[in-house]
Amino acid sequence: MKFQYGRILQDRLDGEHGLPRRRLDELARRFGEVQAEVRQRRAGGEYGFYGLAAQDRTIRQISAFAEGVGQAYDHVLVLGIGGSALGTRALLSALRAPAWNELDDEGREFFPRLTVLDNVDPTSVAAALRRIDPRRVLVNVVSKSGGTAETLAQYLVVRRWLDDALGGAASRHLVFTTDPVKGALRALATAEGIATLEVPPDVGGRFSVLSPVGLLPAALVGIDIEALVEGAARAVARAEDDDLLQNPAALFAALHWAADTQVGARLHVLMPYSDRLRDLAEWFRQLWAESLGKRVDRGGNVVHAGPTPVASVGATDQHSQVQLFIEGPFDKLITFLTVADPGEDVSIPPAEGFADEIACLGGRTLGDLLHAEYEATAAALARMGRMNATLALPDLGPAAIGELVMFFQLATGYAGCWYGVNPFDQPGVELGKRLTFGALGRTGYEAPEASAATDADIA
Ligand code: PA5
Repeated sequence: MKFQYGRILQDRLDGEHGLPRRRLDELARRFGEVQAEVRQRRAGGEYGFYGLAAQDRTIRQISAFAEGVGQAYDHVLVLGIGGSALGTRALLSALRAPAWNELDDEGREFFPRLTVLDNVDPTSVAAALRRIDPRRVLVNVVSKSGGTAETLAQYLVVRRWLDDALGGAASRHLVFTTDPVKGALRALATAEGIATLEVPPDVGGRFSVLSPVGLLPAALVGIDIEALVEGAARAVARAEDDDLLQNPAALFAALHWAADTQVGARLHVLMPYSDRLRDLAEWFRQLWAESLGKRVDRGGNVVHAGPTPVASVGATDQHSQVQLFIEGPFDKLITFLTVADPGEDVSIPPAEGFADEIACLGGRTLGDLLHAEYEATAAALARMGRMNATLALPDLGPAAIGELVMFFQLATGYAGCWYGVNPFDQPGVELGKRLTFGALGRTGYEAPEASAATDADIA
């Protein structure tokens, strides 16, 4: 994977916008302090996700489960939210055939279908349960804390559905991925003898896709999880470099921080030119937003820090957002994701009888067109003084995706240092979780102010 960052720099844009090259030199000089902070915090146990690049025992355990018990099911239903769901969805989209669940058994090479319920919208939940046969499902309940309202509500609904259909056999269709010791799911699993996998305590939810959180569902649908983790190890190895210019994850973080805080690029867009990476952009959006959006810095000063991540897809969103990106405010840094070999291409037949503007499409491929669209958009942005960069993936294989996932996690860890915030907590989300329980009348939890307390501001 290559990180092409030249078009973030002023001398590669219009000479007026973008980061002056001397800023890059300053970042490179300061990087020693950032790398030292990361190392110190790693040693103190804060950056536990680095450890996900070496987990042979977990891979063996999950592979054995997937090859044994897993084969008895033709549908895997994942219950979770946020970091317990988005990564799994991203892996499925990137590494399995498009429209996986619509393929027949042969098309899926006899691996199960996979549904991720990451919301409590009753219409989606009810529709999913109508579609799935409870006799043929493995339900993977994923919650690090074991106490998230949405996930536990999903569990209660799904448990009733399993009990009704299977009676005493229901618990054999369940596997919990949760904290090794704490939380309601752990207690329930112990009481009922439900199979479990552990979320490492030092790995936060949004950094956990390469832990059993994402690895179990991935292995169940036939994704090579060993290759996924090998790719992640490649990213970690590159992040050991103390030279900023040789450490792509650190460089991505440094440039994004500088673009935000020094030249006003408060919006960080991730725009894959690949439908299969659309969900990965959504996963990144959560990782970047929840990790860096903080009220206070590490010293307790109120900073209200954090860039706003935006997910976009090329070429589709060239006809939606790119007008704004090219001509709107100078408040964005756009990172494209490209794939050199997407594994499949489609020829465009000769466009006989059409004038040249259409005829030039004939004899090319859709892949050629997609790539030309990316090149053109990146060049147009640069010409108009808009900062942009590219992460170029060789292919859509598990090693490349594992490297990309770990690259973003490493970059987020580095960005926490540049912004001076703790990228691993989420006090805002916790406040929302507590108020939700308050709204539901849980003892000891404060209820939120009613939104309709006054009608003065209701239209
Ligand atoms: O990244 C995070 O910590 C959050 O997005 C969590 O993943 C999310 O809130 C779900 O939490 P849990 O896994 O504890 O149910």
